[in-house]
Amino acid sequence: MIANELRKKYLEFFESKGHKIIPSASLIPENDPTVLFTTAGMHPLVPYLVGEKHPAGNRLVDVQKCIRTGDIEEVGDGSHHTFFEMLGNWSLGDYFKKEAIEWSFEFLTSKEWLGLNKDRLAVSVFEGDDDAPFDEEAFEIWKSLGIPEKRIAKLPKKSNWWGPAGKTGPCGPDTEMFYWTGNSDKIPESFNDDNNLWLEIWNDVFMQYNKITDGKYEELLQKNVDTGMGLERTLAVMNDLNDNYKTDIFWPIIEKIENLSDKKYDDNLKEMRIIADHLKATTFILGDEKGITPSNTGQGYVLRRLIRRAVRYGNKLGLKNFTKEVAEVVIEIYKDVYPELSKNKDSIFNNLKKEEEKFEKTLENGLREFEKGTDPFTLFTSYGFPFELTKELSKEKGIEIDENKFNEQLRKHQELSRTSGAGMFKGGLSDSGEETKKLHTATHLLRQALENILGEKITQKGSNINAERLRFDFTFGRKMTDKEKTKVENLVNEKISEKLPVNKVIMKKVDAEKSGAVHTFGDKYGDKVSIYYIGDSLESAWSKEFCGGPHVSNTSELASKNATQTGKFKIIKEEAISAGVRRIKATLT
Ligand code: ALA
Repeated sequence: MIANELRKKYLEFFESKGHKIIPSASLIPENDPTVLFTTAGMHPLVPYLVGEKHPAGNRLVDVQKCIRTGDIEEVGDGSHHTFFEMLGNWSLGDYFKKEAIEWSFEFLTSKEWLGLNKDRLAVSVFEGDDDAPFDEEAFEIWKSLGIPEKRIAKLPKKSNWWGPAGKTGPCGPDTEMFYWTGNSDKIPESFNDDNNLWLEIWNDVFMQYNKITDGKYEELLQKNVDTGMGLERTLAVMNDLNDNYKTDIFWPIIEKIENLSDKKYDDNLKEMRIIADHLKATTFILGDEKGITPSNTGQGYVLRRLIRRAVRYGNKLGLKNFTKEVAEVVIEIYKDVYPELSKNKDSIFNNLKKEEEKFEKTLENGLREFEKGTDPFTLFTSYGFPFELTKELSKEKGIEIDENKFNEQLRKHQELSRTSGAGMFKGGLSDSGEETKKLHTATHLLRQALENILGEKITQKGSNINAERLRFDFTFGRKMTDKEKTKVENLVNEKISEKLPVNKVIMKKVDAEKSGAVHTFGDKYGDKVSIYYIGDSLESAWSKEFCGGPHVSNTSELASKNATQTGKFKIIKEEAISAGVRRIKATLT
């Protein structure tokens, strides 16, 4: 089976169960300060999981591109990746455990669909604790489908609970599905998740709780289902392979690396897998609708790390100037499913080339410093010279280095660093509290005010909101003057004092475009979209945007004073982030 068939079957199956297909969202989340990348299919759906109405209805299915760097150390085995595709189906307050589990089982085992042998399946369910009871319902459903009790593990929160990564938000127990990838005459009678021949392929999450600030859980009014099936792993299983790199979405990349290096995959598994994985992720991040370029903070830093690791492992195989050639193969594999890759081809290649050259220089300089006796920590922080390289060189020269000391220095350094803590790399839900809602509405007012004051169409390039401030990136060719900034602030404050209603309509995409509603650069939309408008009617509205929400219901709410806010909109910073793109940070305090 090839990847295209698996994607198609998944979408078709859930379509036959009343689901609407929605497009993959960008890898770069909008308005969610808790994650740097889209780490699961549920991320772009957070507003709908907490009660917004989705334009396509309450049964959805998609294939979502994802990036996770939490497991980066495990990349190099046959089944962990930084970039992967997640097949997912959702119930937004519609069906719940029974249908979700029965459909998972049907899709996996029915001859008409994947036709996997049910004797090689095992599952886990939540065992229960002080916060929530044992998931007896899920347990009983699996039993009724013929999964023996010994193959249904009851596991604690650590394993069988999803979300939230932030302090609050919807979450709940999950049930995970595993496939035996070992020999068929050695299938253990009972399931034990320590044995990694049992490969996790699918996770059904039952979002039935809301975690409230003090760590308590309350039942959600809307009970959701959020599922995630790993495309790469399931594809390997379908082909009887215990190595994802031998499937059609990896093998041509490996072959390219074999040719360029004149070395064999079987002799260089770890290196070639890391190069293939990292350069695939890199190609997708650079080629995203909301493409990111290498930098020293946030997503740009993750991207830089991925490229540098790929180059490092490439060097081990004797490769130089190779990243572009590998990226070409990645684009070729995915160009029909993700057309943004071909569209952004030149910028992918240029950025790779630039970063690769820069890193080669870093390595040269670092080597020179190393020869002079510079210590490992300075080499790393001031010259960007990788510690593992310092270790290798030291070993060659018989120099002792103190690894514990380095790790301790690094730990302190990272605590101080602005770059995202560990939590940022995990999946999770955004803080959908009142403050972020107000700032989201303020962002819409700001967008329109900018257009009015600057006197030209601007395009939104990104938005990120947390409880303290909004951040808005948009296209504009020069620095704003102080006068312009004051005018924008005044206009936003005027709209707040006009007490305008904020409303939402769901409509056909074509009609929405005709209405003059604006959308974010590069976002993909389904046939039906939701539009937020600020003003009395859609026709007369002062601001209209394609947007999933959530928002306050009247701009007057932005003026409400409290302990930390005076209710005045204020721009705190306006700066360039790249050629032709400006960034504004603003608050309501
Ligand atoms: N959100 C769930 C996961 O990523 C389905 O595993």
